[in-house]
Amino acid sequence: MSPVRDYRRLIEPTRVHSALYYDPQVFQEELSRIWYRGWVYVGHVSEVPNRNDYVTKSIGPTPVLMVHDRRGDISLLLNKCPHRGNQLCAYSQGNRTSFTCPYHSWTFANSGELIGYAYADGYQGADKSQFALGRVPRIGIYRGFVFGSFAEDGPSLDDYLGGAKASIDQLLDNSPEGELELTAGFLQHRTKANWKFMLENETDGYHPAFVHGSIFQVAESGIGNLYSPASTALTRDFGNGHTEFDLRPEWRRSAKPLQWFGTDAERLPGYAAAMTAAYGAERARQIMIDGSPHTMIFPNLFIAEIQLFVLQPVAVDETIQHVTALQFKGAPELNRRLRQQTMGSVGPAGFLLADDTEMYERNHRGALIRDPEWVTLIRGLHREGRDADGFRIGHATDEVPQRGIWRHYLDLMTS
Ligand code: FES
Ligand code: FE
Repeated sequence: MSPVRDYRRLIEPTRVHSALYYDPQVFQEELSRIWYRGWVYVGHVSEVPNRNDYVTKSIGPTPVLMVHDRRGDISLLLNKCPHRGNQLCAYSQGNRTSFTCPYHSWTFANSGELIGYAYADGYQGADKSQFALGRVPRIGIYRGFVFGSFAEDGPSLDDYLGGAKASIDQLLDNSPEGELELTAGFLQHRTKANWKFMLENETDGYHPAFVHGSIFQVAESGIGNLYSPASTALTRDFGNGHTEFDLRPEWRRSAKPLQWFGTDAERLPGYAAAMTAAYGAERARQIMIDGSPHTMIFPNLFIAEIQLFVLQPVAVDETIQHVTALQFKGAPELNRRLRQQTMGSVGPAGFLLADDTEMYERNHRGALIRDPEWVTLIRGLHREGRDADGFRIGHATDEVPQRGIWRHYLDLMTS
């Protein structure tokens, strides 16, 4: 299939055309070239800890069931009845060995096979095996993070994640047991804006001083220093569209453990003790200074220091952000704090997400204004460098991540 748009004319190294944000044809083509082809984050194994647990998730606009099935496997099934196409499961989570369609009551094992028709006399000679639930053909799990791909082949998940695996490793170091447990439940925020505004903004260190300026004052944690011209934080492009806002250099400069929103190690003595027991005093202190990463894994997983975001594009101008508090195994004291901070920052009346959401909707409205038709991504081009691993880096406020995202996007849309 040839592209509907000539993407090489819409994406240049330091500017992109606004049509990429508002054109419904571009959105349709993104579905086939990004969401229904590459690796997409779906959920975390800790959401389905017991056999027969399931959660409803999505890959792009397509609803899927992530099931810890009766055989003990994690599988991704399409949440769609093969009879007449009804959406099969209406609940967001549960524990069941089978799913029964609410329309005509066909029943499927939680491993996907059709196990029974209602009024079976009407199906003499029919082959049940032809009517199994659709299945996401490839599933990959990295340290509990479950990704799916609708392509039968392609790069391995390991190769795809590449340098971004280090961010997931850094995240899990925050657990005394090296594991995440996403048990806090998800909030959903529906935003009237194209999904790529969120993708670009999550590791943007240029906007917070302005968009979130008031909260940094209220928090009195020094967090606003991360986003100033004097900051030693870095922006990084891992390749494959994965990007990072690396806070560690700035945290290390002040050397105070656990600084997210005014938290400090003295206020979490139980957590500090558990970390010390697990890693030894020196390493535990280093982990608590470094904190958890601020990394966007293309196209939809954002690890945001204290919470995790999942982007779900619904339409060219509509995106759902699914948000949950990070919860670490063996760290109840820290987890309580992270839940409170998540409600305060990105909950229904949260200060951070409301600020960003207003910008996303203004971004989208701005894209519809025809003059100028291009957006610019030149910030920090003259000082872009490489880190020891060869990844592009820049100052905290530089547009290194955004240029990296569009480089990868162009590859996907033209390959
Ligand atoms: Fe599901 Fe008919 S559509 S049983
Ligand atoms: Fe923001």
